[in-house]
Amino acid sequence: MSKIAFINNKYVKFNNAKVHIEDRGLQFADSVYEVIAVLNKKLIDYKYHFYRLRYSLKELNISLKVDQNRFLKIFKKLLEKNNVTNGIIYLQITRGIQVREHVYEKNIKPNIIIYSRKRKFNLPDKNFYGVNAITYNDLRWARRDIKTVNLLPNVIARNNANRKKAYEAILIKNNIITEGTSSNIWIIKNKKLYTHPSNINILKGVTRTSLKLIIKKMKLTFIEKPFSLKHLMNADEVFLTSSGSFITPIVKIDSKLINNGKIGEITLNLAKMYFKSCMNG
Ligand code: PDD
Repeated sequence: MSKIAFINNKYVKFNNAKVHIEDRGLQFADSVYEVIAVLNKKLIDYKYHFYRLRYSLKELNISLKVDQNRFLKIFKKLLEKNNVTNGIIYLQITRGIQVREHVYEKNIKPNIIIYSRKRKFNLPDKNFYGVNAITYNDLRWARRDIKTVNLLPNVIARNNANRKKAYEAILIKNNIITEGTSSNIWIIKNKKLYTHPSNINILKGVTRTSLKLIIKKMKLTFIEKPFSLKHLMNADEVFLTSSGSFITPIVKIDSKLINNGKIGEITLNLAKMYFKSCMNG
């Protein structure tokens, strides 16, 4: 359990970190967030997270100037106070508090919520494991490129996965695989990598961006192109990427085994390379 959180410019005891009942994040999901991985006390890919945070704020017209250095100081202090070596930083910015009304007032003061949690990651060592996934209808809104807390369809899909003892739900819209409930989905066929292009239909994952650079270095063929359910099921290897799961192999989808239920060679190599770049970067 984390002991200290940061809310509205103060470090407070976790149990006392509260928002007002008329916070627009609570009433309208009028709020954006980031989850940043912490590995060996290092904040992984944080520059990309700040880039996306600014983008989400801009798209929602939430006026907050993000001072990266100030935020980094808060993150580091929280990690120290909460004794986190491996885990995540959770950052949420709500538009602020106002009498409930769909139309937001100009210049209300955003609420900044930050805390850390310890977490064990699935790393490409001797304990590296693959996970099961299910497929599920993508019921989300049309601006999935903005990282808002408007996550109810993701929650419903993920709980369906959980009931079936699966780790992730892979979302399908018009027979196209968009992404996972909290991850991007990749397939490998004939040594070529495919993932959905980064447009308004998916969240442009930070891990995805980082992995693209590694793929380039490894001179693998990478194609950003929508792929169908059939392509997913017939893939040689499948994996997901996210700040909470890094690169995690998917070895079974619904009742179909992928790569005979084993972690694929290319996925394993990519996971190793990504881990190495996190430790050195
Ligand atoms: N989720 N797609 C969706 C819908 C996500 O929610 C996430 C991240 C990703 C992967 O993005 P990144 O590589 O930047 O973490 C893709 C976070 C981890 C979460 O909601 O917990």
